[in-house]
Amino acid sequence: MVRVNENYTLLQGSYLFSEVAKRVKAYQQNNPEKKIIRLGIGDVTQPLVPSVVKAFQEGVEEMAKKETFHGYGPEQGYEFLREAIAQVDFQRRGISITADEIFISTGAKEDTANFQELFDTKISLAIPDPVYPVYVDSNVMAGRAGKFSHGRYTNFFYLDATIENNFKPEIPKKRFDVVYLCFPNNPTGQVLTREELKAWVEYAHKHGSILLFDAAYEAFVEDPSIPKSIFEIDGAREVAVEFRSLSKTAGFTGTRCAYTIVPKEVKVYTKKGHALSLHSLWFRRQSTKFNGVSYPVQKAAAAVFTAEGQKEIKEVIGYYKENARLIYETIASLGLPCTGGKHSPYIWFKTPMDSWRFFDYLLDKVQIVGTPGIGFGRNGDGYFRLSAFGERQNVLEAIDRLKTLSW
Ligand code: MLT
Repeated sequence: MVRVNENYTLLQGSYLFSEVAKRVKAYQQNNPEKKIIRLGIGDVTQPLVPSVVKAFQEGVEEMAKKETFHGYGPEQGYEFLREAIAQVDFQRRGISITADEIFISTGAKEDTANFQELFDTKISLAIPDPVYPVYVDSNVMAGRAGKFSHGRYTNFFYLDATIENNFKPEIPKKRFDVVYLCFPNNPTGQVLTREELKAWVEYAHKHGSILLFDAAYEAFVEDPSIPKSIFEIDGAREVAVEFRSLSKTAGFTGTRCAYTIVPKEVKVYTKKGHALSLHSLWFRRQSTKFNGVSYPVQKAAAAVFTAEGQKEIKEVIGYYKENARLIYETIASLGLPCTGGKHSPYIWFKTPMDSWRFFDYLLDKVQIVGTPGIGFGRNGDGYFRLSAFGERQNVLEAIDRLKTLSW
């Protein structure tokens, strides 16, 4: 008899998007004639941009020739990619992040899930609610959760993001070792101003906490008063780690490429109080458990940071932002309080019934798939998320269908 990792038995149901997919599949099987419009999972629909495709093809060609073939790459990712990221995302914007503080990976999902391994199992954790489920589940798997009671794990402190606080969680009075933040937020689409983010960095300094900042949706921010990176804030280098991704920024959900920034100043401590560099520990972890992103993908990723690539991805982001605007206006016109949709591809709104009932109602009445808010946490009950990553034609059709609804 082999004993299970009991922590897995504490996980609730199936992973949110697997459950959504299961219900949609069952509906389609029972209603093969119906055209379903998918505005659920944040998966992109527009192809890779031309400069990325060209670089990708060149990378494959290089792999096909003895003289230019690549085997294992450097552990942290190719320098040409890390340098390009450091310059375009940070240095040109006046932020001091260097290439050796950037770790290339296959996804922000993996990195946000894996990063907690570097911390003791007993650390105190503050996690937003609603939240991208990966932060919670990965900590449950690691044995930090306690019991599940009334929709929450007893060992986590939940940072409430509700309509009352405009979906911006208040800074806790108490100290927590590690705090997860995600802005622009998944699922609410809410953003923080520079002053608001600064207050979190000050909190972390005051308490010796570490902020795990998920910036996967930063490409949707155009307003200069809204930070795209936590490293725009003075002092963040000592207390923050940032996760970024090309999935939503450049259509890499299927291609896979992301990067995590671990500044050299961030420290963690042994029981005896010896300081260790989080950067060195993440390097150690990645070089043991991960063997890098393929050369053609990293070559394709580097093209995102060329002038041409930047111009091309901006157009695609603009396309999704217009979708977001259209969906937001439609939901608002139905009288449902909503947020997001402006600096984010997600529209988050209050539903006239509980989240899963609304999911089934929408699927059944107008064949639109969204994501039930309860899947993001207890505060998400009675809320719903629509994604703006669809094809414009489908978004327009979805809007027409939504306008026929009444309750
Ligand atoms: C979402 O829909 O929340 C995201 O696509 C999930 C992800 O990025 O893993």
